[in-house]
Amino acid sequence: MIEFLLNNEVVQIEQEQADLTVLEYLREHRQLCGTKEGCASGDCGACTVVLAESCDHKMRYQSCNSCITFLGSIHGKQLITVEHLKENQAKESSAKENHALHPVQQAMVDHHGSQCGFCTPGFVMSLFALYKNSVEGSSAGLSIAEREKITEQYLGGNLCRCTGYKSIIDAAVESTASPEHDQFSALESETRQKLARIAKSTKIGTENYYLPKTCDELGKLIKRRPEARLLGGGTDLALEVTQQLKPIDQIIYLGNVSGLLKIKEHKDYYEIGAAVSLSDFDNLVKNDYPDLSHLLLRFGSRQVRNLGTVGGNIANASPIGDLPPALIALDAEVILQNASNIRKVKIDEFFVDYRKTVLGKNEFIRSVLIPKADAEHRLKIYKISKRIDDDISAVCMAIYIQLDNSNNSIIKSIRIACGGMASIPRRANKCENALCGKPLDDNTITQAQRALALDFQPIDDVRASAGYRMQVAQNLLARLHLELTEPATLTQVTDYA
Ligand code: FES
Ligand code: FES
Repeated sequence: MIEFLLNNEVVQIEQEQADLTVLEYLREHRQLCGTKEGCASGDCGACTVVLAESCDHKMRYQSCNSCITFLGSIHGKQLITVEHLKENQAKESSAKENHALHPVQQAMVDHHGSQCGFCTPGFVMSLFALYKNSVEGSSAGLSIAEREKITEQYLGGNLCRCTGYKSIIDAAVESTASPEHDQFSALESETRQKLARIAKSTKIGTENYYLPKTCDELGKLIKRRPEARLLGGGTDLALEVTQQLKPIDQIIYLGNVSGLLKIKEHKDYYEIGAAVSLSDFDNLVKNDYPDLSHLLLRFGSRQVRNLGTVGGNIANASPIGDLPPALIALDAEVILQNASNIRKVKIDEFFVDYRKTVLGKNEFIRSVLIPKADAEHRLKIYKISKRIDDDISAVCMAIYIQLDNSNNSIIKSIRIACGGMASIPRRANKCENALCGKPLDDNTITQAQRALALDFQPIDDVRASAGYRMQVAQNLLARLHLELTEPATLTQVTDYA
């Protein structure tokens, strides 16, 4: 059974097609048509809903794209739709008739932020997620400029091609100035009790949508159901259904497997479960590796980062996945499991060919081991794409470098990894050799740029030509040089940095 709360109603589903999306369910099975379909690929935000779950004795509210979320993956959560913001408020606070709208809706009205019927519900739901996180104190004491910046991060995945964002940002800034507890807060303990009861249920999953809870169960299921597809966040897999119209008959969802959700801090490294979301991963690494955190902010939209997982971004082995170059530069390792057999593989040996990895039959990624930041090294990551937000890389270059500043800025060690430059994300070995042991100066960078042209033969495609890719990658080496030696000469890029 798939069981969840649709707003405040407990929903139990015995059987359904495995690849039914939350968006289809809402619009076609429940006639809740406030949630809109724009792109059906996680790019526009028209379908934004909020998923709430009980976490550390309180509710956590996260926006997500319902068009790429399969219904089975919301088992045990509360699905909040745009219809519920007002209706629930009106029911719970009948004494305050003039406050029937949720504060974010009212702020949208007050600031003339309401636009067309396609994009507005999605904007409202992203603002609602921002509001709920602001109530938890994340906006306390922040200036208007800081609240604007956070708003931009929350709205980065909500697109409007016609008008503007200013009035919506104003609405967000006002509603998060001193957010109060709303009707969702008032119902929180009741909601948590309902979710706790669902969590105790032993009959979970359906005949075609499997919800294992442990790595052992997962290992057995993969063996028993070899035809079932493994689902992390679905930000890539769901596109097979919504864009290529290929049905997926059986799904094994990884998001309830406790062993894949662990985040463990060891003395020298972090162990990150494969099903940890990119948003949670960001919270972990932002202090150690600010450049990695900055890259994560440009990983699709906030809705996508709330769904997408660390393991999924590795396992799909895309040559333009953004996490692999960073992990290769950091010398990370992946833990793989097949039944009870566990092995460890260096991540730069994990990718073998276009979309091919060393994962064997019945094997899955259990976790990723990431060395902790070393005070002597710097991590620099450059993502080149046509837009700052919500876009796919043409080139992504990650560099982990140690300089001997007491000795003429000699490069003591360096690892460079690139995405978008070959059929797999991989190291630039010749370029590294041209840099290692040399002073960081113009001559060395020129040699490294030449060597980079021997490392890669990029392809032309819709995102960039081969010539552009090589030129920009070589220029990034020059940027690295300037950033490390003459940062004041660089123009700051206008983004979240
Ligand atoms: Fe565009 Fe879902 S419909 S993100
Ligand atoms: Fe709604 Fe532009 S897409 S106003």
